[in-house]
Amino acid sequence: MATQTLSANMVWRRFGSAKRDVSVIGQGTWYIDDADRASAIAALRRGLDLGMNHIDTAEMYGDAELVVGEAIDGRRDEAFVVSKVLPTHASRQGTIASCERSLARLRTDRLDCYLLHWRGPYPLEDTIAAFEDLRRDGKILSWGVSNFDVADLEEAWLISDRITCNQILYHLEERAIEDAVIPWCEAHGVAITGYSPFGHGRFPGPRTARGRVLAEIAAAHHATPRQVALAFLTRRPSLFTIPKASSPDHTTENARAAELPLTGAEIARIDGAFPRGRRPHGLPTL
Ligand SMILES: NC(=O)c1ccc[n+]([C@@H]2O[C@H](COP(=O)([O-])OP(=O)(O)OC[C@H]3O[C@@H](n4cnc5c(N)ncnc54)[C@H](OP(=O)(O)O)[C@@H]3O)[C@@H](O)[C@H]2O)c1
Repeated sequence: MATQTLSANMVWRRFGSAKRDVSVIGQGTWYIDDADRASAIAALRRGLDLGMNHIDTAEMYGDAELVVGEAIDGRRDEAFVVSKVLPTHASRQGTIASCERSLARLRTDRLDCYLLHWRGPYPLEDTIAAFEDLRRDGKILSWGVSNFDVADLEEAWLISDRITCNQILYHLEERAIEDAVIPWCEAHGVAITGYSPFGHGRFPGPRTARGRVLAEIAAAHHATPRQVALAFLTRRPSLFTIPKASSPDHTTENARAAELPLTGAEIARIDGAFPRGRRPHGLPTL
């Protein structure tokens, strides 16, 4: 699509118990280190220009933390930086060591939110105790979880009610979290960050029936199908999304979804075209 003006009206919302305003459309970074480095950094900085302060990364994502570190250099206060500890590192000492390494790669003295990437071999009590140590030391502002189903959330909540967010798979063709996870998070004031909003690169094509629904709604708003998808995925106050883009034009397109007002009828039409399906046995992940 053509380059758009930089006049996105970003929307920020309170991010759970972090008590910080975070852009509803953020920036993912998985595989961003595979892209041309200058383009990736320009994309992330374009996002900051457009108010996309939510930058998501992880120790698992190769050199992505280095790319983010370069992008936020001199602009740290504009960003809400989220990183994640690998479950195999998430012992009490291991979590602290992973966080220190992430801080060094990101060239910063603090993370705004630190997540357990998914449940692993260590007791949740140990990981959460480490998160609390890091929080007290000012190395993280808040902490949360990722890929947690309701039973995991219940277990973690019994240990501490400081869970800021749950980062989970959420795109038009994978809406399983709407059954129970979204209601649980909303009832407990936990922000929901939906990952892979474009299906990790498998977005409905323009020649499919579903793709045509998105294109028709997009045309009515002089928008794009991806913008329609992002607007749908952030339609509730609890929802945040983190598309990954490695070109400034993609970032601009994604940012402008925040100003797209879908009508109730359009939301119902998307709901019909992308039905939730049966409740899955386990939480889908990527
Ligand atoms: N917690 C977890 O377990 C977990 C798991 C998966 C992902 N995540 C997070 O969620 C983020 C997003 O998910 P994802 O990376 O899996 O996939 P995604 O955001 O669904 O899709 C990324 C793909 O969409 C393309 N794209 C982005 N904006 C576009 C636009 N406006 N027009 C056309 N193409 C566009 C990107 O291309 P370009 O790169 O060429 O721009 C890339 O190929 C990750 O980067 C990561 O931060 C978390």
